[in-house]
Amino acid sequence: MAIVELKNVAKNYGSQIKGASSSNAVDNFNLVTRDGEFVVLVGPSGCGKSTTMRMIAGLERNTEGEILISGRDVSQVPPKERDIAMVFQSYALYPHMSVAENMAFSLRLKKRPAEEIKQKIDEAAQTLGIQHLLERKPRELSGGQRQRVALGRAIVRDPQVFLMDEPLSNLDAKLRVDMRAEIVKLHKRLNVTTFYVTHDQVEAMTMGERIVVMKDGKIQQIDTPINLYEFPANRFVAGFIGNPSMNFLPAKHVDGVVSGDGYRLSLDAAHRAAMASRGAADVWAGIRPEHLRLSDAAATNRIEGTVDVVETLGAVTMVQLSVGEHAVSAQLPGHRKVQLGDTLTLTCDSDKLHLFDNESELAIAREPTAASSAAEA
Ligand SMILES: Nc1ncnc2c1ncn2[C@@H]1O[C@H](COP(=O)(O)OP(=O)(O)OP(=O)(O)O)[C@@H](O)[C@H]1O
Ligand SMILES: [Mg+2]
Repeated sequence: MAIVELKNVAKNYGSQIKGASSSNAVDNFNLVTRDGEFVVLVGPSGCGKSTTMRMIAGLERNTEGEILISGRDVSQVPPKERDIAMVFQSYALYPHMSVAENMAFSLRLKKRPAEEIKQKIDEAAQTLGIQHLLERKPRELSGGQRQRVALGRAIVRDPQVFLMDEPLSNLDAKLRVDMRAEIVKLHKRLNVTTFYVTHDQVEAMTMGERIVVMKDGKIQQIDTPINLYEFPANRFVAGFIGNPSMNFLPAKHVDGVVSGDGYRLSLDAAHRAAMASRGAADVWAGIRPEHLRLSDAAATNRIEGTVDVVETLGAVTMVQLSVGEHAVSAQLPGHRKVQLGDTLTLTCDSDKLHLFDNESELAIAREPTAASSAAEA
């Protein structure tokens, strides 16, 4: 177990990276884990997740900042002495070795006694439910079983830190869901500080104690899953976390009301207070599809549009509307008889509305501290 600290960590690969505002693949990365924490790194392709992992592992040298494991600066420590075990997307088991031999490999290299190796393999195999597979070769295993062996190989090393970089991306949807539950259980049991990379936001939300959302090498927000959902710090996080994605509408604020062509939404007290000083201003209004519901035309908060797409999913009906010239999606509970071309009026509670600054795209007046203390009061 260990606390991992990244202080102002940056990575510059040289001239290869174009288009980003900074030339760093990872920039100004700051994070201190709790001992035994499960931290998920999430973000679009190329945002620097693997680079961050490789720096923690010591496979890449950070060009700036410090990385500390249990208080020790590891910048001069080679990967094999960092006491870290990694599981990657391509888990690369040795094809000519049995499952047991694959798992024993790192311990043999460390010249551990045979008795200890056997005991560790048995324990790990039991934890992962692969005792009956120990004599098989990797080619005789299913994808999910191979994944377990790769995890087993990491577990037997008793590392201070686990690094898992998209370990489930080779698995089909059903197996992914099973394996992610297994990994969470495993973490509860072993309580080893873990960094887990995914670009699947559902995986991030269900697994992470805290989630680091990255974009273009920069941390956008670090928070618990529920805080990311309820209090996204900026428009990017708001759009990235949550499925289906949040709707964004450009809106004009006047006296506690934001509106545009086809919509008019009145603000709650917190937004009203925050917007009072801004006066008549352009903002982004953000509304999650699951916070929209059908309403009558007289509702204070209303969004009116014509139906373009209807998807009946059983438990919910997904509707896409044209509101003025903007697309809005709504997730309506149950099975709704909605026809293409219908005009619908939707509403949303003011306290579910998000506002973002037009230019900085930072959230306006939605803060976990204020809101959660209000909820407790
Ligand atoms: N060895 C390298 N040399 C030069 N540039 C690199 C190298 N590895 C990664 N990069 C660049 O650094 C940036 C971050 O890459 P990284 O692999 O960390 O992204 P990622 O978030 O893991 O993406 P993905 O989700 O696609 O795996 C990208 O622009 C990538 O092209
Ligand atoms: Mg990657």
